[in-house]
Amino acid sequence: MTAIAIDHLQKNYGTKPAVVDLSLKVEPGQIYGLLGPNGAGKTTTMRCLATLERPDGGELWVAGISVRQYPREVRACLGYVAQEVAQDKVLTGRELLELHADLYHLSRAEGRLRIQRMLELLELNEYATDLIGSYSGGIKKRLDIACGLLHNPQVLLLDEPTVGLDINTRLKVWAFLKGLRSQGIAVLLTSHYLEEIDVLADRVAIIDQGRVLAEGTPDQLKTRVGGDRITVRLQEFTPLELATRGIALLQGVDFVREVVLNRTQGNALNLVVTSPEQALARLESYLKAQGLPVFSIGQSRPSLDDVFLITTGQSLQDAQMAQVEITAQTRKKK
Ligand SMILES: Nc1ncnc2c1ncn2[C@@H]1O[C@H](COP(=O)(O)OP(=O)(O)OP(=O)(O)O)[C@@H](O)[C@H]1O
Ligand SMILES: [Mg+2]
Repeated sequence: MTAIAIDHLQKNYGTKPAVVDLSLKVEPGQIYGLLGPNGAGKTTTMRCLATLERPDGGELWVAGISVRQYPREVRACLGYVAQEVAQDKVLTGRELLELHADLYHLSRAEGRLRIQRMLELLELNEYATDLIGSYSGGIKKRLDIACGLLHNPQVLLLDEPTVGLDINTRLKVWAFLKGLRSQGIAVLLTSHYLEEIDVLADRVAIIDQGRVLAEGTPDQLKTRVGGDRITVRLQEFTPLELATRGIALLQGVDFVREVVLNRTQGNALNLVVTSPEQALARLESYLKAQGLPVFSIGQSRPSLDDVFLITTGQSLQDAQMAQVEITAQTRKKK
C-alpha cells in the first residue's frame, strides 16, 4: 500500500494560491525529498497531510486512509516535525515526551522504552529534566524530532528537520532516517540543504509556486540536466565586477553552453560545456590572458543545485544567499 498519495492538491490562503497542483506518491521504506525555494508550498503540503489545513482541491491519503474523511486515523499513523518549533516552555523535555506518549496511547512500559531510545538517539539525556524554556534552539529542535519519532509512526513528515543542528547531530539524524527504510517507514522530507536531500532521498520532487516541476531519483534528475560541468574558481577576494566580466567573456566561448556565478563558493563560475577536454585545455590560459585571477579549474558531475537551477531558473544556494543579503540590508535600515 502506498504510504503517501497526493492527487492534484490545491490550497489557497484567501485569494493567494499556496499549492496550485501537486501530485506525488511515497512508498513504504522510501525517503522522499521536497525541494523548492521559499514560498514554494512545501510546508503547506505537509500541513494538509498532517490534517492541519483543509485542502481546497484534490485528495490525500496516508497509509491508504483518506485524509479528508478520516483525519483522526491519519493522525494516529503519522509523525510530524514542523518547521517552526512550538513547545510548552514550562515542561521539561522528559515531561513533553511523556505527554506525547500519552497522546498516542503508548503503554507505560512501551512509552518509557521509546522515550529512553529517543533521549539517547538525540543525545538529550543531560537536558531531560531541564525546563524547555532554558533550551538552546538546536536542543529544542532535537526534542521536536524526538516527539515526532516517539510513537514509531508509519509515515514521517519532516519539515526542515536539521536546521540549527550541529554537524554531529545532523549526521546521527541522517543515519537514523536511513535506518527507517528497513522498517518500511516512509519519510517525506523538506530541506534547504541540497546535500541532505542528495544523501537521503530515494526520490525528489522539485517544486516551485505550488507545482511539481521535476520528479525522479536524484540520479535521474542529474542525468536529465545533461552536459558536463566545469568550475572555474577565482582567487580569494576577487571583486564582483571582475567575476561578472568573466561571465561575459565565457558567454562568448563557442563550447560554453551556460555560465552561472556561484557566490556562495568564493565567486566560482559554474559552466555547462559541450566539450570538457577542450574547456580544461583552453580556458585557463584564455581567462588569465584576459586578466581574470583564476585559482583553479575542475570538472564535476551535475549537482542537485544544477538541476534546481535548470528547472526553476534560479540556484537554490544563490536564492538563499540573496535572502541573507536582503535580511542583512533590512537590519541595517532599522
Ligand atoms: N497561514 C498562512 N496565511 C497566508 N499565507 C500563507 C500561510 N502559510 C503560507 N502562506 C503562503 O503560502 C505560500 C507557500 O508557503 P509555504 O510555507 O508552504 O512555503 P515553503 O515552501 O514551506 O517555504 P519555506 O522554504 O520558506 O519554508 C507562500 O506564499 C506563503 O506566504
Ligand atoms: Mg516551509
